[in-house]
Parts: sequence; C-alpha cells; structure tokens
Amino acid sequence: MIPLKPFAINVVFSEEAFYFYPLEDWRAENIGQMRKKSYGFTSEGEEIFQYTLKSVAGAEIEIITFGARITSCKVPDKNKRFKKVVLGFDSLSDYLKENPYFGAIVGRFGNRIANGTFSLDGKEYSLAQNNGGNHLHGGNKGFDNVIWEVDEANSSSNELKLSYFSYDMEEGYPGNLEVDVTYSLKNDNSLEVSYEAVTDKKTIVNLTQHSYFNLSGNFSEDILGHEVKINADKFLPVDQTQIPTGEIREVENTPFDFRKAKLIGENIEDENEQLKRSFGFDHCWILKKAENTAHFAASSYHKESGRLLEVFTTEPGVQFYSGNFLDGTLPQKGGKGTYTRRSGFCFETQHFPDSPNQRHFPSVELNPGEKFSSKTIFKFSVK
Ligand code: BGC
Repeated sequence: MIPLKPFAINVVFSEEAFYFYPLEDWRAENIGQMRKKSYGFTSEGEEIFQYTLKSVAGAEIEIITFGARITSCKVPDKNKRFKKVVLGFDSLSDYLKENPYFGAIVGRFGNRIANGTFSLDGKEYSLAQNNGGNHLHGGNKGFDNVIWEVDEANSSSNELKLSYFSYDMEEGYPGNLEVDVTYSLKNDNSLEVSYEAVTDKKTIVNLTQHSYFNLSGNFSEDILGHEVKINADKFLPVDQTQIPTGEIREVENTPFDFRKAKLIGENIEDENEQLKRSFGFDHCWILKKAENTAHFAASSYHKESGRLLEVFTTEPGVQFYSGNFLDGTLPQKGGKGTYTRRSGFCFETQHFPDSPNQRHFPSVELNPGEKFSSKTIFKFSVK
C-alpha cells in the first residue's frame, strides 16, 4: 500500500497579512511566518536546518545553518512575477563540496591576506595559503564551512539570528571569537544583515555576505547586461596575485568608474592591466561614507525584469566581483544547466583586502572588551 502523505494547511495571522503554508514535509515546522525544515545531514551525521523568511510583499529568503548561507532569494519583477535571483544549489551535498562561497557568510577575514601572514603587537601569525600563495576568505575551513547555531527565530520581526564560536587559533587566527549574524527580512523586501563579534584576545575580523546575484531570474543568462552603480571615487588596484598594491586610485577615466550607472559589460573587456589581472571586475571600491549609519554603497538594475537591488552598508568598502571564475562546472538550482562564467556577481561589503598588512587602510583589529558591529542592507524593488 502506498502510504498517504499527510496534508495540512497552516494559516498564520499577523497584523498585516496571513499566509497559507501547505505542509508538504513531515518534519517541516511553521514558526509564525517563518518555516523551518531539515536540510539533510553532514558526513559526520550533523543535521542542517533550513529557515524560510517571507515578507508581506512576498519575497522569500531561504537560509541554512551550514555556513549561514542564503540558498535562495525569490523576489518579484515589474509584472509581479517571482523568480530566484541568488545563485545556489538544490541540495546540501553540493554545498558540502568545494564551491565559490555561494551565499555564505565569509570570515574570519573576507578576501585576501598576502602570503597568509600578518602580525599583531609584534607577533606573527600564519594562515592557510589557500589561494595561490595568499590566504582567502578565512582559510580551508572558514565560516562558510561550519555549522551555525540558531539563537533566535523570531517570526514577528522576521529575524533569524545565527551564532558561531570560533576557537582560539582556529584556522590560525588568535582569540576565541563569538560571532552573531542576524538576517532580518523587512516588509519592503529589504534584507538586513547585521554582524556582531567579541573576542578574548586581540584578533582581526572582516565579515561579509557572499551571495551571487542574477536579477534576471535566469541563471543561464550572464550578468553583463545588468547596470551597476558604485558610490565610490576611488578603488584599490591589485598586483598579479590580486593583493592590493597599496595605491588608492581615482576611478575617473578608468573602466572602474561606476559613479553613473553603466552596464557591467560596457568596459569589462577593455585593454586594461587591472581588468587583466583579475579577469574582469574583482576589486575593492572605497565607499563615500555618510556618518555612522548604513550608507548607499552600490546598486544593480536589470532592465528587462525591472528588478533593482540597492545595497547600503556601514562598511568602508565593497568588493564588486563579476563572477569571473565561474566555469560551468557547478550545477544550477532547478537541475538545468550549470553556472557559467559571469552568471552571477557579488557585492561584498567589507573592510579592505589585506588590511592587516597595510597600515593606511582602516583597521580590522578587534580587542577584548570591544564589540565588532556591522550592518548591510540588500533592498529589492522594481522600477
Ligand atoms: C574574490 C574572488 C574569488 C571569489 C570566490 C571573491 O570575493 O574576490 O577573487 O574568486 O570571491 O572565491
């Protein structure tokens, strides 16, 4: 006899709206407007959970406890058609294999540290050289590859707070570091990502969110036809190994001038040493900063769908990466095709790459008794 699948509908009332959630999964659980379900198990038998946040305007964001990753983000186009606009996989097994940080929280240090070394108070620290001779995105097992605890799943505020305890000398970094990341989906379809961290020993911290966006909703279409605007007069040129040279260069009269919106594809193939070194855009822009609050950093607009993404941050920089190293080997969500070169781009708000070795860059040091805090907002709309 074929067992009957249980079918139920949960009606969730909130002040603004109500939803119907078919419970198609035995283990799924509704927490107010939020939904929690098992996402599978690691090879060590640890269970990973997925949380779905849904806004009154209908945006849906899925987050898993492995790497605190955004695995899906569904937002409407100008005709109210909802499509997924963040690159990801269908199953946990793909996230457990090597991949370019899809949707992950990156830490303890986002981006590169030259030769994997830095010093604090005269003591030298050695980190994994996992990107050529350099250190990248926290090392061999960074925050993208660990299991985060869920501290709070608050359905009334649509907030998911995850935490991770990174022990002293984990991946070579000093100090026990307690990190919190809170995802909060607002009713205007903006996703706020707030970070906090404290340490018991002087250390370095540079956290970021590594989602790849494709606002067309079609992962087989490249992102060269997206417009991009970046609120920066200056950027950081890199050497042959993608470490900032230390120079702070004006964007004026270079392909790096995104002060007025232009297509990603407009200058990406220009004869330019910096574009050659990074195989496209993969640089840190120095943001024009407003006082203390999250300021406008960058935006992207996809004309055909009308989808607009605006990014605001308290961070001093944004790494705009045009997906140059995606190479067609990773499977697309939905089981059709693969992620080919430039099928997604990232806006990684953060401090500057290699800051621990470049004293003229804003400091990434965190001392005991201090609290690291940072906020970035990804706002989705249409125009
Ligand atoms: C880096 C790229 C790297 C990508 C995926 C970006 O933050 O700047 O160089 O390929 O992450 O690892």
